[in-house]
Amino acid sequence: MAFITWKKDYEVGYAKVDEQHKELVSIINQLADAMEKGKGKDELGKVLHFLANYTVSHFKTEEDLMTAGNYPGYPAHKKIHTDLLTQVGDLVKKFDAGKSVLTVSVMTFLQDWLINHIQGEDVKLAGFLNRKV
Ligand code: FEO
Repeated sequence: MAFITWKKDYEVGYAKVDEQHKELVSIINQLADAMEKGKGKDELGKVLHFLANYTVSHFKTEEDLMTAGNYPGYPAHKKIHTDLLTQVGDLVKKFDAGKSVLTVSVMTFLQDWLINHIQGEDVKLAGFLNRKV
């Protein structure tokens, strides 16, 4: 069973953002699956780096939409993104240094962070963007 099951409730109603969120969930699920199957450091590292890079590019997509639309919540939303990227960057650094950082509690943190963020900040952003068109 997938670690995170995508639900209709997670959709924000802005197609490009929803597609990227689904991809993020899929990558987190790939990581959870690789952990569960006891895959080695190379395989786990590949998925973890992919997740980190995809997160950077997803946040950039949203931030570009915010700046293009003069979204008033941009500074606060961007700060939340930056803080998460700092935490993910730290995780990747520790993983690359050989530390066992991929734990169930880290995966649960990522899951909770993503779902809460989608249903909080990203829903607000999508509502704003949809009102502009
Ligand atoms: Fe979808 Fe604000 O991250």
